[in-house]
Amino acid sequence: MEIIRTVEKLREAVSSARAAGKTIGLVPTMGALHAGHRSLVDRARRENDIVVVSVFVNPTQFNNPDDLRTYPRTEEADAAILADAGVDYAFMPTAEEVYPEPDTREFDLGPVAAVMEGAMRPGHFNGVAQIVSKLFAWAQPTRAYFGEKDFQQIAVIRRMAELEGFDLDIVSCPIVREADGLALSSRNVRLNEQARAIAPKIREVLLASVDLKAQGYEADETARLTTDAINNIDGLEAEYFQIVDARTMQPVSRWSDAGDLGTVGCATVYCGGVRLIDNITYPA
Ligand code: PAF
Repeated sequence: MEIIRTVEKLREAVSSARAAGKTIGLVPTMGALHAGHRSLVDRARRENDIVVVSVFVNPTQFNNPDDLRTYPRTEEADAAILADAGVDYAFMPTAEEVYPEPDTREFDLGPVAAVMEGAMRPGHFNGVAQIVSKLFAWAQPTRAYFGEKDFQQIAVIRRMAELEGFDLDIVSCPIVREADGLALSSRNVRLNEQARAIAPKIREVLLASVDLKAQGYEADETARLTTDAINNIDGLEAEYFQIVDARTMQPVSRWSDAGDLGTVGCATVYCGGVRLIDNITYPA
């Protein structure tokens, strides 16, 4: 595996691969790699000739300076994981390399970016669109891989790719969980022992919300009961829980309001001061 630090080197590496007719799989990450990332990398490895993984804590998507400052950075361990996974190129640039001048682009991301994370974290999705559009332009991927834990992010990236005319497959990959159900996240390392013991209850409540649907509760009532159930657990506080159309990300009141992709329940929950996100797909 080659570690690439500059955009120029990345462009060189992928353009010779492209010229040789090779497919390129890109896995954008912010590092602090765990088994969830590894599943994306493994899939990219199976489906492409060349695999590029970017490791970059993108400052423009953090609306909270403390979150950016304390975001885990584990570059050496990340490089070892990527080498072990048979990655061809690990792109690990500095912020100056990625943003030699401030990125002032404002993307018209539309309704998919206006709700949930978009409403709670102003500017977050514009920052994601900035970095991912740069990575797509530089790495010229045939396919790019994203985890479904950040369910809304995938819809936003699809929208950005459409706006910018990128011709690639955006591949969404299932959430990887700990044995007790907690969705893997780089932020989990911030959970203290007590919070770590409570955090899997988020998944339990989401599973219980599927039972509510099966019992005949409408979507709006299920959302209300699920929010209450989260808040009734000592140590958990829901920032939001919404049941949304899986394509448009817009909240639905009735299950039958959803389009072809059905409904997803998206939760952001504070647990011991750590902001955790998770989601669940409702069976039709
Ligand atoms: O999901 C993430 O880790 C980040 O938002 C991404 C897509 C790597 C962009 O910085």
